[in-house]
Amino acid sequence: MKIPLFTIGSALLLLPSGTTARNGSMKKTLTGHIDPSEVFSFVYVPFEVELGTTSIYVLQSYSAKNEGNALDLGIFDQRGTETPYGSRGWSGGFRNNFTITPSWATPGYNPGPISPGVWNVVLGPYTSVQEGIDWQLDIEMGFDAIDSYFAPDYATVNLDPLCNGVCTEDGEWLRGDLHLHTVYSDGKYTPDQQIQMALDRNLDFIFFSDHNTDTSNNIMGHYQATLAPDLLIGRAIEVTTRAGHWQAIGLDRGQLIDWRYQDNASFAAAAHEVHRSGGLVSINHPFAACAACNWGFNDWDHNDAIEVWNAEWDSTDQQAVDWWQGLLVSGKRTTAVGGSDAHSPPSLNGQPTTVVRSRGKSQAAIVEGIKAGRTYLVQGPGMDVEFDINVPSLQTTLAIGDKVDGAPASAVAILTATGFSHQKACLLNDKGYFFNTTIKDTNTVHRRIPPNSKFVRVEIRNSTSDGMLALTNPIWLL
Ligand SMILES: *[C@@H]1O[C@H](CO)[C@@H](O)[C@H](O)[C@H]1NC(C)=O
Ligand SMILES: *[C@@H]1O[C@H](CO)[C@@H](O)[C@H](O)[C@H]1NC(C)=O
Ligand SMILES: *[C@@H]1O[C@H](CO)[C@@H](O)[C@H](O)[C@H]1NC(C)=O
Ligand SMILES: *[C@@H]1O[C@H](CO)[C@@H](O)[C@H](O)[C@H]1NC(C)=O
Ligand SMILES: *[C@@H]1O[C@H](CO)[C@@H](O)[C@H](O)[C@H]1NC(C)=O
Repeated sequence: MKIPLFTIGSALLLLPSGTTARNGSMKKTLTGHIDPSEVFSFVYVPFEVELGTTSIYVLQSYSAKNEGNALDLGIFDQRGTETPYGSRGWSGGFRNNFTITPSWATPGYNPGPISPGVWNVVLGPYTSVQEGIDWQLDIEMGFDAIDSYFAPDYATVNLDPLCNGVCTEDGEWLRGDLHLHTVYSDGKYTPDQQIQMALDRNLDFIFFSDHNTDTSNNIMGHYQATLAPDLLIGRAIEVTTRAGHWQAIGLDRGQLIDWRYQDNASFAAAAHEVHRSGGLVSINHPFAACAACNWGFNDWDHNDAIEVWNAEWDSTDQQAVDWWQGLLVSGKRTTAVGGSDAHSPPSLNGQPTTVVRSRGKSQAAIVEGIKAGRTYLVQGPGMDVEFDINVPSLQTTLAIGDKVDGAPASAVAILTATGFSHQKACLLNDKGYFFNTTIKDTNTVHRRIPPNSKFVRVEIRNSTSDGMLALTNPIWLL
């Protein structure tokens, strides 16, 4: 049987070692022990917040830190731990202390009213030595008078208000990045650094996606207004569970998504919450080689997309592409997306870039374009792909993401690739690669499609290393 989360019984083992009011502050020290069998669970440490409290400071310390033990940190307020909406912040293993006040909080924590009641520090054992983890929390609550309150400042997620986000039926290709971090979780980039880089790298949209917190989503209005009024800054969270990471993209204002589960049903329920508010669910780096980073849910049904290309191309991305090809062959129309996962220098955002045919510059239109598979990936700026299939018998031209019903005779793939001189272009269908050629400058490749192809997609690979340089989603023919 699984060890349950801290029960009332074990909570009584906490040792409040001295509760003294000093010069308008109250300090508590709580200690406890976590058994190695509790790794990947969440341990809740309740403490009482008195009426009149206006600041909470928590300092975490524990045994064998950086020597085999790793203990994540977060906090839930008086609304309780049942739903994600009690969460007042999460910093994983990145910070050992935080402060929350009505006007200000440590990045990753939500400023706002401090209501009295039982709050819970949440400890997340990630790795443990044999002896377990001895932890201590030093909590200090202040009672100073308040002179201001935090007000969220959301970025505008619809930059085409006149046409309500849907401006062209055909759509325009917009370049972006769906996976970015900041100091609001475990990154060193500030929002303005990421935004400036996105502008320099010619992106039209970015989604900040800090781990298990909406705090960066709540402050982007200021940066958008002052730095980048034409950059679409969407709302996302990297839902960082103990059985894999997934991207909740296109969230509502203030929306939080639970991350405290390892079972399929809870993942499906959380994915449903994202869909209910019009968002997109994407499985991140499914084969990443770090503990609990790879996809452990064995559920490929409740996501719309898979991040098949995370940061610099490597063999785990190839595994993701192979898996995705298998899904396509089985008839599942999951969209392949990319994500830079840029946290800190020297990582670049927009590497890879996800390019979406979007019916407007809005979060909703980007989400719609990705769900429809109108998406391709390139390594970075200056690279562009145009891939169509001409079907003479139907007198039509299909673009990436389009579908026709019925196998058209004599369909021809037309590929124009810019920025890939001397690299290798590959055409694939459900049986695999059927045509490879070397790209000369920006020539257009025409190629008859094998009969009975279920779908056709394109890869452009480095002719020296075979690394991926571009990848399209399929055009569906059956
Ligand atoms: C209480 O705070 C005041 C103002 O910050 C300071 O001057 C004083 O020394 C503090 N007293 C104690 C006991 O810490
Ligand atoms: C609190 O966190 C900050 C930022 O991570 C760090 O610089 C500081 O050393 C920490 N304080 C203590 C007492 O560890
Ligand atoms: C999730 O579902 C898959 C497929 O039904 C199953 O193989 C797997 O054991 C499930 N995993 C968990 C943790 O429930
Ligand atoms: C085409 O290129 C792919 C990717 O590099 C390779 O796996 C495949 O073997 C090539 N096919 C042929 C016929 O050369
Ligand atoms: C292709 O691979 C070679 C060898 O790894 C590398 O030097 C070169 O920069 C790569 N080209 C591109 C466009 O990434």
